[in-house]
Amino acid sequence: MSTENEAGLLQPEALARAVKDAAAAIESAANLGELAAAKSATLGDKSPVSLARRAIGSIPGKERGEAGRNVNAARTEITAVYEAREEILRAAEAARVLREETLDVTARTPRRRQGARHPINVQMDRIADLFVAMGYEIGEGPEVELEWFNFDALNIHPDHPARTMMDTFHIADGEGGFGSNMVLRTHTSTVQIRTMLTQEPPIYKVAPGRVYRTDEVDATHAPVFHQTEGLVVDEGITMADLKGTLDHFAKSVFGPDAITRLRPSYFPFTEPSAEVDVWFAAHKDGARWIEWGGCGMVNPRVLRACGIDPDVYSGFAFGMGVERALMLRHGITDLRDIIDGDVRFPAGLRVEE
Ligand code: DAH
Repeated sequence: MSTENEAGLLQPEALARAVKDAAAAIESAANLGELAAAKSATLGDKSPVSLARRAIGSIPGKERGEAGRNVNAARTEITAVYEAREEILRAAEAARVLREETLDVTARTPRRRQGARHPINVQMDRIADLFVAMGYEIGEGPEVELEWFNFDALNIHPDHPARTMMDTFHIADGEGGFGSNMVLRTHTSTVQIRTMLTQEPPIYKVAPGRVYRTDEVDATHAPVFHQTEGLVVDEGITMADLKGTLDHFAKSVFGPDAITRLRPSYFPFTEPSAEVDVWFAAHKDGARWIEWGGCGMVNPRVLRACGIDPDVYSGFAFGMGVERALMLRHGITDLRDIIDGDVRFPAGLRVEE
């Protein structure tokens, strides 16, 4: 541009137009990038106002003061428009970043839980809940147990076949107090004795727990398995109470159609004693009776051994296998699937619903 043309930029109309054009350019910038370009075009070295300022030197000295003020006024006006626009676009940009880069920390992730509680534990908890709802307490006892609690107190004499039938892990000879040997408990019936020795009737107790026998592992046996023991001692308890309790228990484990039947049997700690069968309609090979556990009326000899007067109190007891019920309910044919520790197994059973 010639000096003459630049001098023309100092004309008030030219400056007014420069301001108007600059404002239009700045206002039309849609984002900070476009605004930067508009700034360079309207306020940069080659912008009309910059060229106008340079032209001041070429005009007569007495006109320079006013020309300078005019140029500065134009420049100030453009700068104000620019700053206003910049503020708007910066706010819009900040809002966009907030919107687009928001992280919803409460969002559900697609990640799935890798593991699950073991079905045996879930099953035992459910059984415990069922009995707690009927007013029972949960009982516990040690897994390393005095032989006396495991056998003698339960009326299983040293020469009794039941003692050898339950193949026992012996832990230590004569070190368990009372000169008793230590064994791994072969059944949860030990908790009956521990309860009756420490508690006055009425007693309503359920004891789910782990037991041990020297069985080889195969499809239906394992040296470690689980039982649920039940014990009630109160005034006027009869076998009808036992039967009703077992039916309720069976429905919870095997479904609403389940009923129980008692087959006469023998256990040294109950008299009379019975095997409990349950009618399992959903058996994979068709509805049938299946063996579930043992039960009976607490033998008066056992009550007496625990300091409970059998003329005042009577009671019932039962002991059920946990694995067996679980296998039947889920159509598991090999016990080893339950104990192998494959994490897909509990996840696949979904017993926890
Ligand atoms: N303890 C027995 C067992 O492991 C099962 C049992 C039978 C428990 C009769 C009882 C009962 O409480 O009354 O084979």
